[in-house]
Amino acid sequence: MNRATAIAHPNIAFIKYWGQADAALHLPANPSISMVLDCLQTRTTVGFVEGLREDEVIIDGVAASAAARVRVGEHLDRVRALAGSALRARVRSENNFAAGAGLASSASAFAALTLAATAALGLQLSLEQLSALARLGSGSACRSVPAGFVEWTVRPDRSSAAHSIAPPDHWALCDCIALVSTRQKRVSSIDGHRAAPSSPLYAARVQDAARQVPACRTAIERRDLAALGRIMERDAVMMHAVAMTSDPPVYYRMPETMRVVQAVVDWRATGLPVYYTIDAGPNVHCLCEAAHCDEMQRRLGLLPGVQQVLVAGPGNGARLTDDHLL
Ligand code: PMV
Repeated sequence: MNRATAIAHPNIAFIKYWGQADAALHLPANPSISMVLDCLQTRTTVGFVEGLREDEVIIDGVAASAAARVRVGEHLDRVRALAGSALRARVRSENNFAAGAGLASSASAFAALTLAATAALGLQLSLEQLSALARLGSGSACRSVPAGFVEWTVRPDRSSAAHSIAPPDHWALCDCIALVSTRQKRVSSIDGHRAAPSSPLYAARVQDAARQVPACRTAIERRDLAALGRIMERDAVMMHAVAMTSDPPVYYRMPETMRVVQAVVDWRATGLPVYYTIDAGPNVHCLCEAAHCDEMQRRLGLLPGVQQVLVAGPGNGARLTDDHLL
């Protein structure tokens, strides 16, 4: 069996990817910037086996749904095409966090799958090639391939990948994630991207996001949380405004979500430097510097409706490990 195992982390976007310039190629309508989240991780082993008739996919100990199997199989087809192989694979994947609840499990999943599958077939791809390939599995997965603080761009020739703009140790930023629900989200980000252009706010947000990218990059370079926070909160609100005004409308926020948002705004007004963002789910990511992390975790844990608080710092990119699941 040709086998390899990779670890990858999800990422939280400060400027989000919401809407596509090309759906088939997963080309984003605007560039985006994110941070890899070190404590959350997906570990995936891919083993290509002679004589296996179809791909087998087990996620967190359970056979994957038909839809997930098809999506993984299509991604393996891309890797097989690159390697000139027809072998089918056994895929075993484990997350140390709830998958599908808006914690970007598809980002870590496709980053780990891409690295494990290409390594198992003996392909040696550059970081940029790996990132571009992961993008075809799930757009934001391209931002889980490089380390630390990451920017995803589209070049004029329409090639598109993410690269690191600062390593993990550049800034001890802390993401305290207030989990208000770990139920599978009702509308996938795929459907959200598809609906986005129907919002009358879409074009304005895409333009604004592209305009904010240089300022966001500079805020990260200068470790300026107030500047980063302002940009990040506004983009999150705009992304959700686009989602809620799409046809059909998509509502990710729940009453508990807004309770956490209000608390963050109140805490900031009384001197605790913390800013929030929300992905395609109800959970709230609260960003602060490491010095305020324990206090944030404590306060969030006391809020009604918060089931758990996860804490993550800037993480490494996707990498191989000998700790195999097969
Ligand atoms: O990569 P996708 O298709 O799961 O889309 C990601 C969408 C957001 O998480 C909401 C934003 C982002 O840039 O990560």
